[in-house]
Amino acid sequence: MLTETIATLSDVTKVYGEGEAKVEALKGVDLEFFAGELVVILGPSGSGKTTLLNVLGGIEAATSGSIVVGGEELVGRSAEQLATIRRDNLAFVFQFYNLIPTLTAAENVRIIPELTHKGSGSELTELVAAALASVGLTDRENNFPGQMSGGQQQRVAIARALATKPHLLLCDEPTGALDLATGRQVLELLQSTAQTDGRCVVVVTHNSGIATMADRVIRVHEGKIAGVEEGEGRPAREVNW
Ligand SMILES: Nc1ncnc2c1ncn2[C@@H]1O[C@H](COP(=O)(O)OP(=O)(O)OP(=O)(O)O)[C@@H](O)[C@H]1O
Ligand SMILES: [Mg+2]
Repeated sequence: MLTETIATLSDVTKVYGEGEAKVEALKGVDLEFFAGELVVILGPSGSGKTTLLNVLGGIEAATSGSIVVGGEELVGRSAEQLATIRRDNLAFVFQFYNLIPTLTAAENVRIIPELTHKGSGSELTELVAAALASVGLTDRENNFPGQMSGGQQQRVAIARALATKPHLLLCDEPTGALDLATGRQVLELLQSTAQTDGRCVVVVTHNSGIATMADRVIRVHEGKIAGVEEGEGRPAREVNW
């Protein structure tokens, strides 16, 4: 049984624009996310997946409702408060990696822990080495993003996310720019960090092939939750951390 709740959304709405330009991107979403699970959020283009991920991650404000992450309410918080909650709880992985092109793989992974004072110089070096090793890229630590394949760049982006030790890892189309086999490797990596490290990993996609690896599949349709299914990933279990 998954017992530890990482995040809860209650009756969350998100409205963009007004008048004729008004778009109701989320129309009353209720969801709960647990430690140790890989959740896939599936839905057609424009159904509200990215919006859902961004309000859950506190990079966009919900219009109404409640979003609790790591015990903290996000709705109504200031930008500074949201930044602190994000820093302490979560990390993002994006479709196009968002690595800094002028920094090496190791420097890209190091920058956030360094800026947030996550340890001494030698502790940071160890943290970076462990993160790159966990994604199988020890031998690429001195490469710049432009010197790596798409799959390798995404693995660096995952290492960068893991180095901050997030409880919640939010991934928007993380395999969208990769071929099938490479995408599968990236998903296996995400599955393994959920399973082994007890993180909650949320993957947004419109590719139903990805859902086969999930513990839970949440279907989004026109801003509403259309269904939640147990995935084929593995049975739910107890996590302790
Ligand atoms: N910043 C914005 N301003 C206005 N409307 C927006 C904005 N962002 C998203 N929308 C609208 O909200 C709805 C949901 O968009 P969202 O990006 O969440 O969809 P999605 O499911 O992620 O789609 P895709 O699979 O194409 O990435 C769409 O109708 C979109 O046009
Ligand atoms: Mg999207």
